[in-house]
Amino acid sequence: MFQVTEKMKKIPFEGGIREVLAAAEKMEREGRKIIHFEIGRPDYDSPMEAKKAAAEAVMGDYVHYSPIPGLRELCEGIAEWEGKKKGKTFNPDNQIIVTCGAVEAEMVSFVALTDPGDEVLILTPCFPAYMDQVVLAGAVPVTVPVNLGESYAIDFDRLEKAVTPKTRMIIFNSPNNPTGATISEEDLDRLCEFIVKHDLIAISDECYEEFLYEGTPLNILSRPGMEERTILANAFSKPFSMTGWRVGYAITPPHYYKYLCKVHQLFTTSTCTFSQKGAVEALKSGQSQTKRMIEDFGKRRDVVLEALERCEGIACNRPKGAFYVFPSIEKLGMTALEFCSIMLEKEGVALVPGDAFGLEKHVRIAYTCPVEAVREGMERFVRCYNQLYSSKEKEGSK
Ligand SMILES: Cc1ncc(COP(=O)(O)O)c(C=O)c1O
Repeated sequence: MFQVTEKMKKIPFEGGIREVLAAAEKMEREGRKIIHFEIGRPDYDSPMEAKKAAAEAVMGDYVHYSPIPGLRELCEGIAEWEGKKKGKTFNPDNQIIVTCGAVEAEMVSFVALTDPGDEVLILTPCFPAYMDQVVLAGAVPVTVPVNLGESYAIDFDRLEKAVTPKTRMIIFNSPNNPTGATISEEDLDRLCEFIVKHDLIAISDECYEEFLYEGTPLNILSRPGMEERTILANAFSKPFSMTGWRVGYAITPPHYYKYLCKVHQLFTTSTCTFSQKGAVEALKSGQSQTKRMIEDFGKRRDVVLEALERCEGIACNRPKGAFYVFPSIEKLGMTALEFCSIMLEKEGVALVPGDAFGLEKHVRIAYTCPVEAVREGMERFVRCYNQLYSSKEKEGSK
């Protein structure tokens, strides 16, 4: 009889984002109007030019495998785009690998660059897949919480204590899912010194790089010693609202290129060829939509933050990027799951409990719906939160 493998026993199957979405969709089928604050993807359409290019490609000859690292023109486009942003020259021949989303760029890196039992440091709260990916790769995830509160400050004492002779890699993500926070320039300097000192490989997940409302983008490659040890993971998914196309990429130092390519080949052979053609076009003509979208998301963020100020006793850092806000609901004296269930049942607002991202007593608000819906959802949030808060206060004073 089939016996569950040890690695699958370590991977949770419940308590995640997909379940909240399923419960919300069921309520919608039953006629309830739901505000979706649980979905981590932009609500915008993909750029029309990209759609046309992909349609033409599929009607034409782009229906076969592409080269393993991706279509040459896409690798060149990515090298040029990222090179401009980072002030670097990337070689499309031995640094760019087009993957099925950022998630595959990360999985490929974990598989190719760790041996069984190697440890991977993960700054939390974080995108939930990291932990499971590391386990699937046969390595060991070691989570290191950051200090939330006003800023997303890395706790360097904790980080030092987490290092063992088996520590091989570290992954982090700024702007961050689920907090929307960014790593400060000072913390980035110290983090890079730490990485070099311990001779680690870094994965910088830059999926939300474009979604920055304050401050300057992270440039990890500008720090001494980082170019030869950093993999940049990114995707067309969020900035071009192309989550379903499954086009992402890894930018790697040349010495890791053939290993990452090999694993990518073994997982997928190559990324969908006509999706890649669409991505080429998105780079050429989709950037004005990205700009508009991000301006709009900035307004949504302000609506969320203004509403949270009306919640008594709620604690929340001011997110500088991504499209998430991650307040603490600790003062309500209930679990995040209990709070999310009440919000969904009573107010029809779908949120994700912070536990899914490695932090209890917090909830993630994804402002991935039009600003009017964000406003409506936050009115409901404030009403429900304040009612629960005042009942708790009354109970406390009895
Ligand atoms: C931080 C982070 N990394 C990676 C991903 C996965 O991106 P993709 O859909 O491009 O695989 C997500 C998706 O939500 C994310 O939030």
